[in-house]
Amino acid sequence: MLKKISSLLEYEEQYQQSISSPEKFWAEVAESFLWKKKWSNVFSGGFEKVDYKWFEGAQLNITENCIDRHLDSFGNKTAIIWEPNNPSEPNRIISYNELHKEVCRFSNSLMKLGVTKGDTVCIYMPMIPELAIAMLACARIGAIHSIVFGGFSAQSIAGRVQDAECKWMITADGCYRGDKQLHLKNIVDEALEQCPSIQKSIVFNRSNFPVTMKEGRDVWWNDVVKDCSTNHDAVSMEAEDPLFILYTSGSTGKPKGVLHTTAGYMVYAAYTFLNVFQYNTEDIYWCTADIGWITGHSYIVYGPLLNGATTLMYEGVPQFPDWGRWWNVIDKYGVNIFYTAPTAIRSLEAQGLKFLEGKNLSSLRVLGSVGEPINEEAWEWYHKNIGKEKCPIVDTWWQTETGGILISPLAGITPTKPSFATLPLPGVEPVLVDANGNELTEKVAEGNLCIKKSWPGQARTIYKDHEKFIQTYFTTYKGKYFTGDGCRRDEDGYYRITGRADDVIKVSGHRIGTAEVENAINESPSVVESAVVGYPHDIKGNAIMAFVILKSNATASDEILKKEISETVTRIIGPIARPEKIVFVSGLPKTRSGKIMRRILRKIAEGEPDKVGDVTTLLNPEVVEEIKGKVSR
Ligand code: WTA
Repeated sequence: MLKKISSLLEYEEQYQQSISSPEKFWAEVAESFLWKKKWSNVFSGGFEKVDYKWFEGAQLNITENCIDRHLDSFGNKTAIIWEPNNPSEPNRIISYNELHKEVCRFSNSLMKLGVTKGDTVCIYMPMIPELAIAMLACARIGAIHSIVFGGFSAQSIAGRVQDAECKWMITADGCYRGDKQLHLKNIVDEALEQCPSIQKSIVFNRSNFPVTMKEGRDVWWNDVVKDCSTNHDAVSMEAEDPLFILYTSGSTGKPKGVLHTTAGYMVYAAYTFLNVFQYNTEDIYWCTADIGWITGHSYIVYGPLLNGATTLMYEGVPQFPDWGRWWNVIDKYGVNIFYTAPTAIRSLEAQGLKFLEGKNLSSLRVLGSVGEPINEEAWEWYHKNIGKEKCPIVDTWWQTETGGILISPLAGITPTKPSFATLPLPGVEPVLVDANGNELTEKVAEGNLCIKKSWPGQARTIYKDHEKFIQTYFTTYKGKYFTGDGCRRDEDGYYRITGRADDVIKVSGHRIGTAEVENAINESPSVVESAVVGYPHDIKGNAIMAFVILKSNATASDEILKKEISETVTRIIGPIARPEKIVFVSGLPKTRSGKIMRRILRKIAEGEPDKVGDVTTLLNPEVVEEIKGKVSR
């Protein structure tokens, strides 16, 4: 069995051990998994050369650990509960035995189509069990899955498919989200026009939407699986073989293909799921994220299944048919552990308490939060109205690159404080550094958050660009992993994440790079140049403000021009990156070397125009007053 910490004292002891003897600590954790061959080395390498490896020499298949090894003891247990968008449509209950059959069958299907170990497979699917089945089948045959969130545009899919040189696409005709229909296949068709590397596209029929099947390329999921066996011998993977790529936004350029490998990710996802949520065997667990993000990878699919848990997948949105839907789902299945994002909590809070009337919620034992800082008010509302003041809240801090949770309370064990992610998990050594890279050794401090040493779930590289990986995460502060977050440590040694310290904005918990949005805006026919910053938003946490210089021939009304810019961003990235506010300006504040001073724009956007500081050294100080005037209006 995996080590489950059961008291604060035990946490402190385990933490000390994990820091003083990390190899011994993680070897003991890893013992509980099913290995085809044990490791020769628990850990090697480090941050100096950025060549860290975990469990080298070991061979395994993560899906045998997620599924096969549970079959003898509890094959009939529910692995996945699927709740459809529309409550009047039937739900689906999938046992571990059934999941095994489906994953084996689809593994055989993929192999029949020619997918082999090391191939990259793009998955663009709605929140249906076939998404989990597709990702697990990839892992079972050693193909690398690259899941693209269903809200991204055709251009975003194309960019990711091209970068990862995917040969295969797995998608669905479409799905329902609230009262909307999403025609995923049409979006994929548009994307694939720019993707010559794709050999076959497998289409699951979720909704009977009309689609055009392209001869020679598109095949129906049901036709492919029809004659395939439900037995499959999982391929043996090396510990450091790639498991998946997941694209995420950074400060500069295009989204990066963060690469996770097999053994370390598995051990870390399983360990953190068990300990953070204090998962018990009979618990019903629900994470509301989409599998297209890292939270869904680690804490809807891999982490829960590795622990033999029952994981709930919900296809829809919180407000459909009304804002009481999530509470109905919790009561319907008796959900014990509930994990969501602060933006969702704030949106629900904004509806008042009427949607909570008549809801029981007494099954809940643990509540979680992820993706962005949770403000005190939202924390208190969640604690009082959802947790009825009896459920601990785990405010879990982590990132796509970290693979699993790094800083978080252990539910019911670590005393919590609203808006603090509290303490590092075993194996994690956070440090705060100042702008010059000096470590802040005082207990109470505020600075940029770095991690000192590797942990098993850490991303290994950016797909096909290790230089960029080193450059992005390990050069700002030599020898340390830089998270990009600002952070405060208090007198109890508790960590409070204050938000991104770089040009990344968390909008409704979605990670968006300002450079990407600017590039998209600049594609708009009437735009010369733009600069994008984040500013605080009551519900979304942060929202995007775009400062735009128009071409002199852009004579349409402001309203039409703003609409055109918004549509361009939606077309190029997706609706999640749409600016909340667009401000037309005659110039952008620039240094004499031509660099845009986003810091000044940020202060103005944040409603603190008096704090822009000295602007006299700018190339064009006069635009600052103009911009201040436009934003305050
Ligand atoms: C932010 C999401 C405050 C942070 C799992 C981080 C948080 C970024 C928290 C990673 C939290 C995540 N408190 N901020 N509990 N959790 N963040 O890659 O800025 O989508 O760097 O991974 O989300 O976002 P990503």
